[in-house]
Amino acid sequence: MGGNLVFVPECHSTNTLALQLCQQPSTPEGTVVITNNQTAGRGQRGNSWEAKPGMNLTFSIILKPVFLDLKDQFFLNIIISLGIHDYLVTKKISNSHIKWPNDLMVGKKKLCGILIENQVQGSRFTASVVGIGININQQYFNNDTATSLSIVTGTEHLLQEELEQLLQKVEARYLQLRQNSVAKIKNDYLDVLYWKDEVHQFASNGENFTGVIQGIDDGGRLKVLRNDTGEVKTFDLKEISYLQ
Ligand code: BTN
Repeated sequence: MGGNLVFVPECHSTNTLALQLCQQPSTPEGTVVITNNQTAGRGQRGNSWEAKPGMNLTFSIILKPVFLDLKDQFFLNIIISLGIHDYLVTKKISNSHIKWPNDLMVGKKKLCGILIENQVQGSRFTASVVGIGININQQYFNNDTATSLSIVTGTEHLLQEELEQLLQKVEARYLQLRQNSVAKIKNDYLDVLYWKDEVHQFASNGENFTGVIQGIDDGGRLKVLRNDTGEVKTFDLKEISYLQ
């Protein structure tokens, strides 16, 4: 990954650029599109993604996971977030977790977000654009729910070096998926899942409830045991919010 690096000083969204590049069959798998200044970064659930120019990593990886069945597409979320988690572990960060489906948390704060956009033909993937926004050297944020690598480690980091290290870890997990080690991958994901087996407050359908995250089902939906009814319910991304 990153052998073919497309650098643009400024763009609206590296995901949008990468999706355009995917249209050209000559674009090799593993191409990385990266910018210093992303002016209209896109996030999950239609949110925007803000990053101070030159301070953080905002990039997209083009994958061609033709080996993957569409019904298993959640595994892409798993291996990308696990790869980034592996990278954070190499930085001696011990309190990093993956908030379902794929936010990287350190303590209670978000350090990295991932937006995966797939191109599909029939029942197969033709390409998948994996957009990653990881806060590296930014010190101040508009909200107190975000953090950065330099806040957590107490030192500044070279963006180029961090990109290379991170891509290595993500690639290793991608190869694990290609070798079909899905049981190990799922176990590793559950081991680092944020709030798993803890009692917390959630909201769904305009209603708050107390529950305990149990894991994920075969389609990657979140399984939560509701304390009030004793039932295990499954949720899609838009169906549940984490409260406290
Ligand atoms: C989220 O947590 O909501 C996902 C954020 C994803 C942001 C990255 S930054 C690089 C890539 N380009 C985009 O427009 N979005 C992703």
